[in-house]
Amino acid sequence: MLGFSRTAVAGAALLLANSVLAHPTPSRYNGTSQEQAEAQVEYWHGGCTVHPLGGAQDDGPALLIAFDKCRSNSIINLPGPLYTVEKVLNTTLFNTTINLDGVIQYTPNISYWSPNSIYLEYQNATTAWYLSGENVTLQGDGGIDGSGQVWWNEYAVLKTQGGSGVAGGSSRIFARPIPLAVARAKNILVSGISITNSPFWHSIIFESSYVTFENIYMKSLSSNESAQAANTDGWDTYRSDHIIIRDSVVINGDDCVSFKPNTTFTEVTNMYCDGSHGISVGSLGQYYGVADIVSDVYIRNITMLNAEHGARIKVFPGHNDTNSVSGGGTGYVRNITWEDFDCENCDKPIFVTGCYNYDSNTQWCQDHPSTLEISDINFLNFTGYASGNYKGEHYLYLAGKNAVAE
Ligand SMILES: *[C@@H]1O[C@H](CO)[C@@H](O)[C@H](O)[C@H]1NC(C)=O
Ligand SMILES: *[C@@H]1O[C@H](CO)[C@@H](O)[C@H](O)[C@H]1NC(C)=O
Ligand SMILES: *[C@@H]1O[C@H](CO)[C@@H](O)[C@H](O)[C@H]1NC(C)=O
Ligand SMILES: *[C@@H]1O[C@H](CO)[C@@H](O)[C@H](O)[C@H]1NC(C)=O
Ligand SMILES: *[C@@H]1O[C@H](CO)[C@@H](O)[C@H](O)[C@H]1NC(C)=O
Ligand SMILES: *[C@@H]1O[C@H](CO)[C@@H](O)[C@H](O)[C@H]1NC(C)=O
Ligand SMILES: *[C@@H]1O[C@H](CO)[C@@H](O)[C@H](O)[C@H]1NC(C)=O
Ligand SMILES: *[C@@H]1O[C@H](CO)[C@@H](O)[C@H](O)[C@H]1NC(C)=O
Ligand SMILES: *[C@@H]1O[C@H](CO)[C@@H](O)[C@H](O)[C@H]1NC(C)=O
Ligand SMILES: *[C@@H]1O[C@H](CO)[C@@H](O)[C@H](O)[C@H]1NC(C)=O
Ligand SMILES: *[C@@H]1O[C@H](CO)[C@@H](O)[C@H](O)[C@H]1NC(C)=O
Ligand SMILES: *[C@@H]1O[C@H](CO)[C@@H](O)[C@H](O)[C@H]1NC(C)=O
Repeated sequence: MLGFSRTAVAGAALLLANSVLAHPTPSRYNGTSQEQAEAQVEYWHGGCTVHPLGGAQDDGPALLIAFDKCRSNSIINLPGPLYTVEKVLNTTLFNTTINLDGVIQYTPNISYWSPNSIYLEYQNATTAWYLSGENVTLQGDGGIDGSGQVWWNEYAVLKTQGGSGVAGGSSRIFARPIPLAVARAKNILVSGISITNSPFWHSIIFESSYVTFENIYMKSLSSNESAQAANTDGWDTYRSDHIIIRDSVVINGDDCVSFKPNTTFTEVTNMYCDGSHGISVGSLGQYYGVADIVSDVYIRNITMLNAEHGARIKVFPGHNDTNSVSGGGTGYVRNITWEDFDCENCDKPIFVTGCYNYDSNTQWCQDHPSTLEISDINFLNFTGYASGNYKGEHYLYLAGKNAVAE
């Protein structure tokens, strides 16, 4: 996208990072000093390179210096091999390419991240890396490791305690950060990297336009049988348009891709999703009087293995309480196509509900028809087989005009 070379040309301001590495530095528990962090950043004509400290010391301050000094018309090289990070990355870049060939690993420190990660004002989502700006490429063979296990372990405990503010998601008290949020950004390409061990959703595209993710590898599986990975959606999209997600692999236990309110003009193609809850629209219509729109979404060539759902639309029922937070929203779901969809061992290959959260309460559903319109929905060329776990149950609610299932 941007015509920058990946080769670092040594410039006049070159600092020798090796001289830093040669001198042992105090452990990160004492904090990385400003001098130390400055010395980790190598400047050259056209960009910055960050050298890790090693020994699990905090590379966050050095990354923030590089993201500031090389924030526009630059290249930022992150060769790694490993950056330990205990600083929220709030980065706004213009015309800049990040070459992430190393791994950014967030520290497994709930007491740091929970109060500090950046709040996104949607379902209590917070992020460890708020990537904003315009004309940015984030590419490379490296990735982001969210150290999710410690979060899943803690979540399993909190859930059994009544989950004050944690049930079903993140909370302002126990804020599981999203490893990478593309937020209030435009014209962004993320290519080649992996995102693993995600505490919560792997990534969110938030109030952004023209965002492409390609060749991404996501995997978050717990190694602790009594603490499953939770809410590890691959991508969530919110108030965003012109999104492309393609040629990627997601191995998780929640939605592969989830289109949240006001997602339009989006394409998801050539995906391999294992263990997920499918490629989903919603939930929508949760808040009384709020208009939620998901439209013009095209999903094609999906291999969906061992999933709970394959293709899914979740819309809340209507509600007559003006303070309702469980239905009564308006808006529409329109022009959504799932095509060439191979669903193998899926519990509910196609699931459409206009009475989300009340599905088993037939009377409620009859009395509260959804105030959100679902139309022009296409399921084309579905192959594969269902798990049989829900044999005989009603799980396909098709509502609205022009619903087509082939
Ligand atoms: C942290 O700082 C204290 C006080 O300066 C020092 O005694 C200690 O050795 C330092 N810890 C490490 C791991 O360097
Ligand atoms: C980004 O590059 C374009 C030209 O491609 C230029 O017009 C614009 O000013 C640059 N933006 C910044 C913030 O430097
Ligand atoms: C975790 O974060 C807290 C709060 O920032 C800090 O006081 C503590 O030293 C950190 N612990 C570790 C092990 O880094
Ligand atoms: C992130 O950075 C932007 C731009 O510098 C700033 O406006 C915003 O307040 C910062 N957010 C947080 C949570 O620090
Ligand atoms: C982004 O790139 C486009 C095309 O080069 C340019 O017109 C625009 O000014 C750039 N945006 C910014 C904020 O630099
Ligand atoms: C597994 O999770 C449980 C519940 O959080 C926790 O008590 C236990 O220590 C964890 N085991 C390991 C090996 O992390
Ligand atoms: C957000 O967190 C608060 C507690 O901090 C909780 O009461 C609320 O239910 C959470 N909202 C969502 C949508 O999870
Ligand atoms: C479908 O996606 C797979 C990756 O999951 C890819 O290997 C294959 O080439 C794609 N097929 C078409 C026709 O695009
Ligand atoms: C979605 O877009 C519509 C139309 O622009 C707007 O009225 C509504 O408030 C938006 N909803 C959300 C949740 O942003
Ligand atoms: C339906 O959505 C697709 C994908 O965004 C778009 O290409 C197509 O033009 C839309 N169709 C209509 C009739 O708007
Ligand atoms: C709301 O609906 C319930 C039935 O679900 C009904 O008993 C109640 O009278 C209605 N309230 C209003 C204000 O319409
Ligand atoms: C149906 O989808 C499969 C992939 O899921 C593809 O291999 C096949 O060619 C498609 N069939 C038609 C008729 O397009």
